[in-house]
Parts: sequence; structure tokens; C-alpha cells
Amino acid sequence: MQTKVIKIDKDNIDLAKIREAANVIRKGGLVAFPTETVYGLGANALDETAVNKIFTAKGRPSDNPLIVHISDRKSLSAIVKSIPENALILMDKFWPGPLTIILKKSPGIPRIITAGLDSVAVRMPAHPIALALINESGLPVAAPSANISGRPSPTDASHVIEDLMGKVDIIIDGGSTSVGLESTVLDLTATPLTILRPGGVTKRRISDALGGTEIISVSKTSEDLSSVPKSPGMKYIHYSPKAKVIIIDGEISKIVEKINELIGEYSNKNLTTGVLATKQTKDLYNTSMVISLGDRTRPETIAGNLFHALREFDRRNVDIIFAESIDKTGIGTAIMNRLSNAAGHNIIIV
Ligand code: TXA
Ligand code: MG
Repeated sequence: MQTKVIKIDKDNIDLAKIREAANVIRKGGLVAFPTETVYGLGANALDETAVNKIFTAKGRPSDNPLIVHISDRKSLSAIVKSIPENALILMDKFWPGPLTIILKKSPGIPRIITAGLDSVAVRMPAHPIALALINESGLPVAAPSANISGRPSPTDASHVIEDLMGKVDIIIDGGSTSVGLESTVLDLTATPLTILRPGGVTKRRISDALGGTEIISVSKTSEDLSSVPKSPGMKYIHYSPKAKVIIIDGEISKIVEKINELIGEYSNKNLTTGVLATKQTKDLYNTSMVISLGDRTRPETIAGNLFHALREFDRRNVDIIFAESIDKTGIGTAIMNRLSNAAGHNIIIV
């Protein structure tokens, strides 16, 4: 398939280009587009054949459901059965933005979207190109992250091109995404309310918005892997680069010491080692393959750079990546969730 790459300036949107892409969605094609979190691979959510193409292009298992993206709340009536009060409060507070909510599905949503579940995930992205594309198509747009299944999510059009060139109709290049990690997925059909995937909107902010309501998080453990998971996507290894990832957790000076020791060990085995470091530590390692994710005290920056760094190590053919752990506060929870997925839960505590 011929893939057309269309560059669009998010601060000065060319509507003719958006219409061209929206037409492809309406005709049942695939369009990769930027959101504030990561790039998505979109298709008409009401067209089963179109949605099926998403699974083929990504190599995605069919039991992993998709998020339906909307540009206005009116569209919700065709997607969900009803909108509970707490959903309205969260939409007021966090939409458009990196919060996906799960509600009971309407019968009009094809089973392929929800992988047979009776719930559906919905999100209104905070990105002018995404909103314009959905709005012009006049349809709800199903969109998983625009990567090959199992690879780190794309935070730049170049990542989408790397994974999906020749497999989709259009890739919209709208520059780098701002959040850099996927949305928070919150199940509003569960009691207590349950975060299935941590992301840009933290548990604390959601709970505060709902007047202190209890919210639990499910984390992927080896038990979850063998039983039926709450969120079907949780059982798959995600965000994984080609290299092996090992997280080192503990006090920062000890982390640096341990990583240097490991660099020595693995170099003796003729393996290429890389370090996912921070601004504070990047000059302390005995290898040239160090990528700084940014300032430790600014986790938003670290979140924004993580997936690009993982892909960069692949490009440099690194065999083993040592990653410093980050404080699990705020978006730090989401960063450590993605890192431990990439590491297959391979963590050394020092
Ligand atoms: O930020 C994002 O959420 C990006 C952008 C493109 O919007 N999208 C994204 O989609 O990350 P995807 O398909 O890569 O991840 C969707 C997650 C999966 O873990 C899936 O299992 C879960 O949401 N999910 C979707 N529908 C669900 C449902 N009905 N019940 C439980 N989990 C659901
Ligand atoms: Mg994904």
C-alpha cells in the first residue's frame, strides 16, 4: 500500500489537508494522527471492516479492545449506554485531555472495538489536529497507539513512519506529542473505580475531582498474566524495545554505582550497554551510550522523552539498557509502569 505523509502545522491548521485525511476515514481507510499523548492509528469506529484493518496493520491481538475518540460530547450518545454523574464531572474537569473512561457500551459499537466486552473506552484528545480530523470526519474514531504491537508507542511522526509505512493510507506529521505517555484508562463500570493504566491524569487528581472517592489501581503481576485480566491489553508485553531492559531501584548514588558495575560485567561479555539516565547523573557513567531523559525533579519532561529514548537505543543496536528508577509521584507512576513493562518486570533493588 502507498502511504502518504502529510505535514500539518498544529498551530496553523490547513483544513484542506485535514479534509483529505477525514475523507480517507469516511471511506474506511486508516489515518495515523498526533494526539497530546502519543500518535494514534485511526479508523471509523462504526465500520467493522475499517477497524479490522487497524488490527492487521499493527499486528494487534483481536482480544485487545480499542479506545473510541470523539471531538464533542454529543457523539457520546451513539457510543455509550448512559453517562453517569461521575463521568460528567470527569469530562468537565479533564476533557479534552489524557483521560480515557470506560462506560457501558451502546449496541451500535461493533464487537471488534470492545473485543466482545460490554464496556467501551472513550476519550476526547487535547490536540488541535486530532480534534479537527475527528470533527471533519463526522464520526467516532477508533484509535490505538500507532506503533507495531509490542514496540514503544510513537511520540513523533518519524516513529510512525518507522513502524507503519506502507501499511496505512495516511500519516499526518504534526510534530512531537507533548505528554509522551498514553492516557490514563479509568474503568467507571467497576466498584471501586479502577485505574487500568496510569497516565497523564493522576489517581489523586481524579479522586479529588470526585470529592475524595476511592480509586484503586490494578498493576500487572505474574498472576494477572495467567488469569483473565481486567483490561485485556494488560496481559501483553508493551512498550518494549529490542534491547533487554533492567531497572535499578534504590538511592541514586547506589543506582549509579550498581549500573557502572553492571556495565563492566556486560562489556566483558561483549554486549553493548546503554543507560537511561537523568540530567543529574548523565556524566557519571563509564559508557558513551547514555541518554538523559531530563531533570529528575521534572517528571513531565522524563515522560515526554522516554519512548523516543527507547527507540533511539534500538537504532544504536544496544543489547542491554539499564534504567534508573524514578520517584513514583504524579506522572512518575505512569513512567515506572511503562518502564517496568519494557523491562518485563526485571528490577534490581540496591
Ligand atoms: O493516549 C492514548 O490512550 C492513545 C492515544 C492514541 O489516544 N491510545 C492508546 O490506545 O494508547 P491503545 O489501544 O494502545 O491502548 C488502549 C488501552 C489498552 O490497554 C486496552 O486494553 C484498554 O485501553 N481498553 C480499551 N477498551 C477497554 C475496555 N472496554 N475495557 C478495558 N480496557 C480497555
Ligand atoms: Mg498501545
